Amino acid sequence: MIAIYPGSFDPITLGHIDVIERGAKLFDKVIVAILSNSSKSPLFTVDKRTEQITECTKHIANVEVGSFTGLTVEYAKLHNAGVLLRGLRVLSDFEKELQMAHTNKTLNYEIETVFLATTTEYSFLSSSIVKEIAQFGGSIDHLVSENVAQDMYHKYQNK
Ligand code: PNS
Repeated sequence: MIAIYPGSFDPITLGHIDVIERGAKLFDKVIVAILSNSSKSPLFTVDKRTEQITECTKHIANVEVGSFTGLTVEYAKLHNAGVLLRGLRVLSDFEKELQMAHTNKTLNYEIETVFLATTTEYSFLSSSIVKEIAQFGGSIDHLVSENVAQDMYHKYQNK
């Protein structure tokens, strides 16, 4: 069974990596799929995010990194994936995630959304929080992988 792990990953955090590591134990292959048609203006280009994710998941054999525009279910179908993998942190995630899961089910009934409860230690963590801390010169070493931390510090020129 192939799982797609879709998201913005701007940037990828240790919380995302935790979901990927655990997903890779459950599925034959996990494809981390970077959404490139986001209305948000991203900090990092899709190419840079691809490089970052490839580097920090290189220890997991059955992980691939890709990017897509359009619908996640179409990307999943293209890659013969039967599962969309998503992490659930806190209750406030639930409403949006359930709406997405139901919507995706109406678009392709064959594809299931599987949620993994995020490890407690990362339940507060988001890409937005990482960007906010880095922007104001705080340390993000405990929140992202080393390569991403370096890229962030370089972006904000504060280390
Ligand atoms: O990391 P994010 O930003 O929470 O990820 C959101 C994402 C990429 C999973 C979601 O926006 C998405 O699937 N976008 C693609 C468009 C789509 O398929 N929409 C229908 C389902 S709501």
